[in-house]
Amino acid sequence: MAGALKIGIAGLGTVGASLVRILQERHNSLATTCGRAIEITAVTARDRTRNRGVDISGISWFDDAVTLATEADIDVFVELMGGAGDPAYSAVKAALSRGLHVVTANKALLAAHGIELAGLAESHGALLNYEAAVAGGIPVIKALRESMTGNTISRVYGIMNGTCNYILTKMEKEGLSFEACLKEAQRLGYAEADPAFDIEGNDTAHKLSILTSLAFGTAIAADDIYLEGITNISIDDIQAAADLGYRIKLLGVAQRTESGIEQRVHPTMVPLESVIAQVDGVTNAVAMESDILGELLMVGPGAGGNATASAVLGDIADIAKSRPGAQHVPAFGRPVTALLPYKRAQIQSHEGGYFIRLKVVDRAGVFANVATHMAENRISLESIVQHSKHHVEADEPQTIILVTHATTEDSVRKAVASIKGEGYLVGEPQVIRIERPKAG
Ligand code: HSE
Repeated sequence: MAGALKIGIAGLGTVGASLVRILQERHNSLATTCGRAIEITAVTARDRTRNRGVDISGISWFDDAVTLATEADIDVFVELMGGAGDPAYSAVKAALSRGLHVVTANKALLAAHGIELAGLAESHGALLNYEAAVAGGIPVIKALRESMTGNTISRVYGIMNGTCNYILTKMEKEGLSFEACLKEAQRLGYAEADPAFDIEGNDTAHKLSILTSLAFGTAIAADDIYLEGITNISIDDIQAAADLGYRIKLLGVAQRTESGIEQRVHPTMVPLESVIAQVDGVTNAVAMESDILGELLMVGPGAGGNATASAVLGDIADIAKSRPGAQHVPAFGRPVTALLPYKRAQIQSHEGGYFIRLKVVDRAGVFANVATHMAENRISLESIVQHSKHHVEADEPQTIILVTHATTEDSVRKAVASIKGEGYLVGEPQVIRIERPKAG
C-alpha cells in the first residue's frame, strides 16, 4: 500500500469536527477504498480547548492557519474556516504555493478569489477541490466540471441555501414567523456565522457564481449578480402562492441569453407540481439544462456537518486515489487561460412571468385602473384576483393579486411605477418572479 496521505485541517467547527470523527472512525475502510491511509497530522482552530466531541490529542496543533499551511508536514490542506479574506485566503495561497493540494468548503473565498487560486493550483501542479462549497453534499461540482464536459449548458438553477429553504418550508407548513424559523435553523447548525449571508441571498450568490463559471466556462463574476433575499416574504405571499398553484423558493439562476449571462438570486414562484417545489427543509436541489444530456436535477442535503463533511471527504479521497504526476482536473473545468470573459445580461431584459401583490384602498375603479396600466405596458395577464373578505371594515385596504404571462422586467417595473403614481396603493407592492422548469 502507498504511504499515507497526510492532511492538515484548518477549522474545527460543525463541518471540521464531523470530518475528523468520520476520518477516525472509518480509517481502515477508507484506506482499503483509497489504496492508502488518510492521516490527519495537523489541525488548527480558534480555540484549542473547546470540547468538539472528537479526540485531537495525537494531532499536531498549530496556532494559526497560515503557519499550518506553510510549515506542517502535509500533502493536503483542508480549509474549513470560511470567509473570503484572511486567514483563509492567505493560508490557501500559502498551501498552493508549496504545491500542496487544497480542499475547501469556502464558497465566499472562491467567489472572490477562485480564478486566482485556480491559476496558482495549475502553476504548482496542485488540485483545488471544493465540492462542499456548493449545495453541501450534492456532487454538483463534479457533475459540471467533469461529467458534463462537452455539453452546452443553457441554464443552471437551484435551491442552494438550506437555511432559506428550511425557513420558507417551516413558515408554510407550520405557520410560524420568519424569526422563529431562522432561530431554529441556527440552532441546528445550518446557518452561516452571520445569518444575514443566508437570508439576504449572499450565500446563494457565492455558490451561483461558482456554478456559472463551471457551466458557461467564464471567469467568476460574483459582484455581477442581481440579488434579493427572503426577508421581505410574508405568510400572505406564501398563502397567495399556494392559492395560485405555486410555492416560493429562494433560487439562484444562471441563464444564457442573447445579451449575455443572467445571474440572479431572488425569491421565486415555482409551479406546485414541479419537482423543485417538493424540495423541502434543508434539502438543496440543482437543475442543469444542456443540449446533449437534457435536464439533470440533483437533490440532496445542502447543509449541516455530516452532509458537508461527506463532500469534503470525497474530495480528499479523490486526491488519495490520484496517481503521482497525473494530469489534474483544472479547478473550473478548463485551464484558467481558456476561461471566457463574463458578459452580464441586465435584469431589465429578463423575460418571464411575474406575481404582483398590491394592497389598495377600496374604491371603485382601482381594479380596472391596475389592469389598464398592465395593458399599457403590453403585459398580458394569466390571472387577476381581488382577495375580498366577507366582512370588510370601512377603509380597510383590499389585496389585488396579478399573475402575468411572460413579459420583461422592464415592462413590469414601468407598470408598477405608474401604479404607484396613482395614489391608491397602501404600502409597497410585492413583485416575485416566476421560474418554470423545462420539464416536471
Ligand atoms: N448556510 C449554508 C446553508 C450552509 O444554509 O445552506 C451551507 O453552505
